[in-house]
Amino acid sequence: MFFPLLIATLSRCAGAGGIQITHLNVPTEVRNGSSYTILDCVYSLKPDEVDTERGLVVKWYFNNGPSPVYQWIPGMKPQDLGVLRGRLNVLHRVTDNVATMHRALYILNPTTDLSGEYKCHVSTFEDEDFMTKKMVVYATEKKFELTQSKPDPDSVRIACSAKGLFPEPKMALYKTPSGSKLSMPDVEVETTAKQGSYDIRAQALMSDADLESPTFFDCEVKIPEVRYAVRKTIVYYPGIYELPSGKCCRRLWRHCSARVACSV
Ligand SMILES: *[C@@H]1O[C@H](CO)[C@@H](O)[C@H](O)[C@H]1NC(C)=O
Repeated sequence: MFFPLLIATLSRCAGAGGIQITHLNVPTEVRNGSSYTILDCVYSLKPDEVDTERGLVVKWYFNNGPSPVYQWIPGMKPQDLGVLRGRLNVLHRVTDNVATMHRALYILNPTTDLSGEYKCHVSTFEDEDFMTKKMVVYATEKKFELTQSKPDPDSVRIACSAKGLFPEPKMALYKTPSGSKLSMPDVEVETTAKQGSYDIRAQALMSDADLESPTFFDCEVKIPEVRYAVRKTIVYYPGIYELPSGKCCRRLWRHCSARVACSV
């Protein structure tokens, strides 16, 4: 993971005096389904390089691939190649300068498969420089549910599920009896990788005897790589159980002590 950073640092020394990439403006995170995103490669040229564009070529590489996914030679039409073929607005100009106008990638509708390392490589006849940066295109949950069920009158099962996230999500359950947030013990979490995304579910079985009334259960799903997080809460009243008739009872020892509303 730190490898590209090291390369970028080393290339700094090599390009002394000539062409130099001063900024690689690649967004670290982009939401799947955004209308577009721009990856810009800002470089400085010596005055004589600007005038004649002495062999200037701008190339972008994806995930260390051997061939470029974009290439532009000033005076010529930019080319979208490989995974970026048909995914770019190649007419977009990031500056009005003939030596820099098409240096950037203008990606239309970025999707999760375009997550990865982007390397900008700029060269002239005499010199070259490159820099690499990672971009993550993340997808948020399509469906997010937190439910409670009673496998028997004395306990409750809390189940949480979220679908269609990318990259890999994490899930946690919490209970908050009186202001304090407790991470729940014995939570089973299961992650399933589907085509290009992840489903995740967590569940825990709690005994009513261990719970205050009411107890709030929280489910949090997050994508650690992009600091995305959402949560849901439900309230549970331990000691209340449903009779076959559909009415509800407050439990006292083994008896129904009072008829109560099923949800308060
Ligand atoms: C990303 O967005 C595209 C549409 O822009 C959609 O078809 C695809 O299912 C989404 N991917 C995920 C993992 O949500």
